[in-house]
Amino acid sequence: VNNTPHIAIIMDGNGRWAKNKQKQRTFGHQKGAQNVRFVLKHCRKIGIKYLTLYAFSTENWTRPKLEVEFLLKLLEKYLKQELNLYIQNNIKFDTIGDISIFPKKLQNLIKTTKEKTYHCDGMTQVLALNYGAKDEIIRAIKKLKDKQNINEKIFAKFLDTKDLPDIDMLIRTGGEHRVSNFLLWQISYAEIFFSDTMWPDFTTSELDDMITKFKEKHRRYGGD
Ligand code: IPE
Ligand code: IPE
Ligand code: MG
Repeated sequence: VNNTPHIAIIMDGNGRWAKNKQKQRTFGHQKGAQNVRFVLKHCRKIGIKYLTLYAFSTENWTRPKLEVEFLLKLLEKYLKQELNLYIQNNIKFDTIGDISIFPKKLQNLIKTTKEKTYHCDGMTQVLALNYGAKDEIIRAIKKLKDKQNINEKIFAKFLDTKDLPDIDMLIRTGGEHRVSNFLLWQISYAEIFFSDTMWPDFTTSELDDMITKFKEKHRRYGGD
């Protein structure tokens, strides 16, 4: 049995972190990607079984073309660079979101990363790529054939998160108190934590403090 929370993180604040340092936003994204490595390794070490990270939203396409291109290149670099980290630490890589509009080369890299870590069962790390909760729900509805007998449990099997437990802890860094179209269905009973820390500066000790607070919560689920 797994008693550790499924943690989801909206990794926000890369651009402002860089701006505060008089640097380009892209520098912030680079630092942000490095921080994924630290946080992931830490979660593995403390026995977290599921870590879902928001890397690119369906709305992020509206950013300047150069920034979008940079983010896709950075994702490619991250996957190539970190494959061994996943394998060595027995971490399965998975994604949610519609990756079918990404360049074919990137789609293939995502696919092979999944295949090469498919046997890993120490932890699952899910990256949300071209993910939007509303888009996910619409895509699920399009897959539905038998609408009469639908219930919550069956519907959840049509979502991108079909193989994942619901979110226990939702964390947003970067100071904003909003969900930005992330996992609307799956956070229905999540405990939500906001941090003013910009994502590149978010530390594992801040995460540990949140987990401690999470463990003290009495989750009522509408009951007593
Ligand atoms: C989050 O940082 C990373 C992505 C959305 C890809 P931002 O790029 O949103 O940084 P801020 O919020 O502008 O500081
Ligand atoms: C959410 O951050 C998306 C990711 C972290 C990938 P945004 O920066 O896109 O969200 P808004 O625009 O502040 O709502
Ligand atoms: Mg942002």
